[in-house]
Amino acid sequence: MGVKVYELAKDLGITNSDLLAVLRELGVPAAGGSAELEPATADTVREMITQDRGIIRQAKTITIPQSLSVRELAETMGMQLADVQKRLVEMGILASVNQQIGADVAAKVAEKWGYSVTVATTQAVRDHKPVRLAPQPKTKHAGKLVPRPPVITVMGHVDHGKTTLLDAIRRTNVTEQEFGGITQHIGAYQVDWKGRKITFLDTPGHEAFTAMRARGASVTDIAVLVVAADDAVMPQTVEAIDHARAADVPIIVAINKIDKPDANVEKTMQQLAEHGLTPEEWGGDTITVKVSAKQGQGIDELLEMILLVADMLDLQAEVSTSRVVGSVIEAKIDRGRGPVATVLVQRGTLKVGTPVVAGEAYGKVKAMFDDKGERLTKAGPATPVEVLGLSEAPQAGDRLESVKDEREARAIAEKRAEERRRERIRDSSKITLEDLYRRIKEGTVKKLPIVLKADVQGSEEAVRQSLAKIKHEEVEVEIIHSGVGNVNESDIMLASASNAIVIGFNVKVDPRAAEMAERENVEIRTYNVIYELTKDVRGAMAGLLEPVFEEVKLGEAEVRATFKVPGAGIVAGCYVTEGRVVRNEFIRVRRDNKVVYEGKLDSLKHLKEEVREMAQGFECGIFSQGFQDFQVGDIIEAYTKKQVARAV
Ligand code: GTP
Ligand code: MG
Repeated sequence: MGVKVYELAKDLGITNSDLLAVLRELGVPAAGGSAELEPATADTVREMITQDRGIIRQAKTITIPQSLSVRELAETMGMQLADVQKRLVEMGILASVNQQIGADVAAKVAEKWGYSVTVATTQAVRDHKPVRLAPQPKTKHAGKLVPRPPVITVMGHVDHGKTTLLDAIRRTNVTEQEFGGITQHIGAYQVDWKGRKITFLDTPGHEAFTAMRARGASVTDIAVLVVAADDAVMPQTVEAIDHARAADVPIIVAINKIDKPDANVEKTMQQLAEHGLTPEEWGGDTITVKVSAKQGQGIDELLEMILLVADMLDLQAEVSTSRVVGSVIEAKIDRGRGPVATVLVQRGTLKVGTPVVAGEAYGKVKAMFDDKGERLTKAGPATPVEVLGLSEAPQAGDRLESVKDEREARAIAEKRAEERRRERIRDSSKITLEDLYRRIKEGTVKKLPIVLKADVQGSEEAVRQSLAKIKHEEVEVEIIHSGVGNVNESDIMLASASNAIVIGFNVKVDPRAAEMAERENVEIRTYNVIYELTKDVRGAMAGLLEPVFEEVKLGEAEVRATFKVPGAGIVAGCYVTEGRVVRNEFIRVRRDNKVVYEGKLDSLKHLKEEVREMAQGFECGIFSQGFQDFQVGDIIEAYTKKQVARAV
């Protein structure tokens, strides 16, 4: 006859899970409490435990991955799921059985039952050390350093002429015919200027710049700050200055639109000086160039200045090294060509055929194209290229690196994807008790769910970050989905299911999606300017705020007599001493300066007639359903409640 686990556990005075753990350590795992054990096994266990009850505390080391589900942890320890969850709640974590928890949390949980934890790291990740881009010591092993072109980002306030300026610069280098023919948007381009090259990132705006930086990509050497002379320094000009400064990138100012009659260069310079950018001609050290992007004026000088600053920066890079490094500027899935990434090569020379990994994408460089759509076989430092052959579209700001072979590339990419997936789940399980209490207490944390679609990953990331910055105690933005491409039917479906609004940035709405939105009552809003997008979202969030009311005093009346009205109750005969009293508004009854009642004025009579309001100097009868205790001498204060506008 076999022995059931739970019977034996009971015998021994230990829990099922402890016994199961012992069995597992002994190498005779049992499925659960009702599993049957061989009599011999049961005897051995009984003997062991009675001999040395310490066994349960011994050798309790479990090996777990970086993160694992609550269920996995419970199983690894041989504990009841509910016990593990209870322990988590004690720690302030509310987790479902399939929720992922991090190794650190798991270790804390396991501690309770005397387990110590070892975290398994995976070979591929351990072996792969990311390359540092910091200047390398000039050892004989390092590749030869040669001068490289500067990389420029154009920033500035909305409509100050960033795009026009980028176009104007590009025009200096291509024929009009070529210019018109270039439809391929590659996200970066290079111009030749007096025999030297300058690279421009075609994703203007400091949001995109900072989003890339947030992902660890510092690709910009010099920021060109565009300030329209007819508008001077505006909010986003200031932001751009701050972003460039935070990145420690030198700023060249292009004062634009000087052709306009209302251009005021002096005023613009004045305001720039106020923000710490004093022009050289005013004795400061900020290089300032006056341009008209529209008329092509001052562009030469701007390019000269860029090269001047570049010379001061002494920009160098290795051209021949086995380890190629670059940054993804943007990426998309192209219908015909598959994943296409615009990459800025930063070290070494990228060649067709090189096995690479970029974020979670991997592959061999199948083909490369420059900004004019010309096929390239190799690309050196500071060269922007379109790369074909990746397994998927990487994220803007991802680092592209060459690896030994495609297999290694794949292993690294898959590991990264897995890590990120776990991390994401882990993050989402981080509900602290404090949070929980707060939410329960208030019951008011409201979310504005958003489905976000953007033209390229760079802008998607930029919008996400701008939205994340909108914070309020009672409402928060929740991006339930975001992606690249037009707003489609599945977006609408999702939004409809989640009561979300759909926001499109630089994208269109598919006609069928528009119809569906109409049907499903889903709101779609499209924008081209982040600033306006966030402004509207703030507005929408303000709409979700609990209304706050402010009390506005209407007047006061004094009770001079009381009457009993059959079928109704006590009515106060009053004299209005101040302001007015109004039916259906609020009253507060004070007696000897103490409030004895607060409620509504349900009935207001003047000479037997029901009236809406009664003014100072008149007599009236006041009745309130909830108060039958009016006394002569009571003061009735009348007030109304006004909703206060709230802002996020
Ligand atoms: P966003 O991408 O919306 O932030 O704007 P932007 O900074 O790229 O500005 P854009 O280049 O689109 O220019 C905005 C407007 O200003 C357009 O109507 C341009 O034609 C005009 N503009 C740009 N540069 C000049 C200039 O030098 N002179 C004049 N008169 N107009 C200009
Ligand atoms: Mg623009």
